[in-house]
Order: sequence, then structure tokens, then C-alpha cells
Amino acid sequence: MTVLEAEIAAYTAANPKSKKLHERAAAFMPGGDTRNSIFWNPFPVYVTHADGVQLTDADGNVRTDFVNNMTTLIMGHRHPDVVKALHDQVDHGVSYPAPSPPVIRWAEILCERVPSVEKVRFVNSGTEATLNAIRAARAFTGKTLIAKCEGAYHGNHDAIQISVTPPLKDAGEAEHPDPVVMFPGINPAAADDIVIMPYNNPEAAERVVRSHAKDLAAVIVEPINGQCGMVPAKPEFLQLLRDLTSELEIPLIFDEVISFRAAAGGAQEWYGITPDLTCFGKVIGGGMPVGAFGGKDEIMSMWDPNYGTEQVQHAGTFNGNPMTAAAGVATLDLLTPEVYEELERKGDRLRQMIRDLISELEVPMGVTGATSLFALQFTTENVTDYRSFATNDKEMNQTVFTGLLNEGFLMSSRCAGNVSAVHTDDDLDAFVDALRRVLVRTGYA
Ligand SMILES: Cc1ncc(COP(=O)(O)O)c(C=O)c1O
Repeated sequence: MTVLEAEIAAYTAANPKSKKLHERAAAFMPGGDTRNSIFWNPFPVYVTHADGVQLTDADGNVRTDFVNNMTTLIMGHRHPDVVKALHDQVDHGVSYPAPSPPVIRWAEILCERVPSVEKVRFVNSGTEATLNAIRAARAFTGKTLIAKCEGAYHGNHDAIQISVTPPLKDAGEAEHPDPVVMFPGINPAAADDIVIMPYNNPEAAERVVRSHAKDLAAVIVEPINGQCGMVPAKPEFLQLLRDLTSELEIPLIFDEVISFRAAAGGAQEWYGITPDLTCFGKVIGGGMPVGAFGGKDEIMSMWDPNYGTEQVQHAGTFNGNPMTAAAGVATLDLLTPEVYEELERKGDRLRQMIRDLISELEVPMGVTGATSLFALQFTTENVTDYRSFATNDKEMNQTVFTGLLNEGFLMSSRCAGNVSAVHTDDDLDAFVDALRRVLVRTGYA
């Protein structure tokens, strides 16, 4: 039995009810799954309750949650202010065929905190946020081509499901990667409308952007790349993209669906670099389904219903729904400068403790991340982009992930995590102790 098989056997033995639920789910949903990012083999745990930093599953196992619904729950599960805001809104109705006051407050907060966002529109997912931001840029410029980074995930729509995790054999040269359509069903023509930049390589990205400048409707970038393990952009890389797109008059889109948790004004405040359009999701909805996109008035005004014949249409039954607005406003109100400082302190501390553990145990691993975001890397390469990320040992990743589940800790299946405002230093210490036990038990140390 391999160490992975041993961890999976222990996991299966400890989670019989989740296993049964998964078998039932598989009768009605393909693979028992309706969201690939929370599926893992042999079956995921089924959560029945969450509170603060803790998740309880169907078997009664309690785990410390370092996923927070993929970085969403920055105040942890069931924060009393968020719960109260939702209860109050339920008492007034859950959705209306008309706008409601909480949405105005929500928009005000975002525009106040993010100076580059003069106007904002709400949607129901980060996917819709990037879809609409790209559409805004295309409508504004009258062009079609988009530049994105290799290894960046910007949501599940055709225009951008390109070169997210491309097999290296299909991905071309590191300095000017080929666009790779991620899976069957994506319109293959989407690859003709996109060019791929290597992340964190300013010179190579400049060459890609300059050589396509006259056709580019937008450059889109995630200031902290989630897909490759919460890898922060080098400031000079982001600055290059800003300077270059300003010079060439190409709208620059920041996908802040994850990185908005870096500071009150998002990663753009953290870096001091401002885009023309910003995509939001996750934390701004307080745990409810959400997305938003916003930016310069001259671009966003194309969405004004009175704009005229060039107006961009934007329907959506649940856009700006009052439940999400209520949870979003309650969450954003809790996010004071002190909370951000503390999130960053805990993130820095956790990454340092993991780094110390890795060097003490001499395991072939690394840790990446910034602010409250972190990820384990199962490679000795310094992970700064997709090609270095692709050197990860996938089996070791799965073994450690499953081992941590067995120890009572949840990370994403790619071993990425994040700290919420309610994680304590004791939670961080306990995580590092558990990681030590897993690395020793599996023989990696
Ligand atoms: C950077 C980034 N953009 C967009 C999305 C899509 O957001 P959603 O899952 O809400 O559609 C995600 C989701 O993880 C993301 O990480």
C-alpha cells in the first residue's frame, strides 16, 4: 500500500456517511458532483454545519476550515452580524422585481473603497463578472482580442477558459505560450480571440502585448494568481502592464475576485497600481452568490439604459438581489483597517511557520501566498508562474491533502488556503503541527 492509499483508506474508514451520501448523489448528478473545485477522490465530505472556523460533516467529524468557500468567508462562517442582516432581509422579502435600497449602499461602499471604480454593476458570480468586464472592454474599444496570463483562472466561460492548466506539451514556448482550449465544449474559435502572456515575466509580456496592440480590447490579470497557488504578481510586472496599456490605450482589467481580500481597496490598493476595470466576487457577497464589475465612468456608462443605440444590454434575474446585498454590506462594514492588518499578520506568520517546518524537515516543498492567502507547493522550484507551478508533485499533493483531512484540517484539493478574521494563532499553530505529523507519517520528511 502506498502512503496515498493508506491515507485514503483511513479517510474512507472515518467518513462512511459521506461515502453513502456520495453514492446517493452520484445517482442524480454526474460523478455525484455539481462543482468540480470541491470534488476530490474518492469522495468529498458532506458538510452539515459550519460555525466560525469549524466545519462539521455528516459523520460528525469537525475540521478547521482553511478554504472558507474558496476565500469567500473572510469573517468565517455564520458571523452574527451577517446572520442578522440575512434574517432581517428575509423578513422583508428575498428578491424583488425592482431595485432596493441595500444595493445602493453596497455600490457606494465599493466605489468609496476602490477609487478606480467610479461605477459598478452587480452579477451573481465571478464568472459573470469577468464575462461582463471583457464585454465592456470589447464594446468600448470595438476590438475583440484579449490578453491573459498562462495559468490564470478567470471563471467558467468560453472567452477565458483558455490556458488555465494547459498540458505543457500543447502550451508552446514559455516566453510566448500558445492558447490552449481547456476542455471539450468550449468554442474552439475562442482561442483565436486570445493571446497568452507568461505571468510575472515583464519583458515577455511586453513583447506579447506590443505585437498585438492594435487588436487588443483588453489585458486581464489577477494581481495574486489563485490557480498557481496564491502567487503574488511582482510589482514590476503589474506596473509594466499598467504603463504599457496606458501608453497603447488598451483597457486593463484586474480580476480581484480573490485578491480583493488583500486590503479595503483590494490588491490595487495593496500594490498602489490601478486598473481601468475591476472584477469582484467572493468576499463582497458575505457568503452569498455574487459578482460585480466596475471601473471608469466612460466605460461603465455604456451600460446605462439611457445610453442610446450603443448601450450594452445587461439582464439577470438575481443581479443586485437584496439578500446578497445585505450580507455583502454587513461583511464589508466589519472589514476595518485593523481587520486587514491582522489578516495579513496571520498570513505572514503562517507562511513563515510553514517555511520553517519545510527547512527543518528538509521536505521537497515550498509555500506561496500573500496577505491572508497561502498555498503549499510540492516542488523545490520557486513558484512564480504556471511553468514553475507545473513542476508540482501531484501525488504528494493528494497525499498531504488527504492526510490533513484525516488530521481535521480542510484545504482546497490543490492545497491552497486562506486565513479568516476568526482564525486564531492557536488555529495556525495546530495546522502546522498537523502538517508536521502528516509529513512525518507519510515518510516525506
Ligand atoms: C480569480 C477568479 N476569477 C473568477 C472566478 C470565478 O468566480 P465564480 O466561481 O464565482 O464564478 C474565480 C473563482 O474561483 C476566481 O478565482
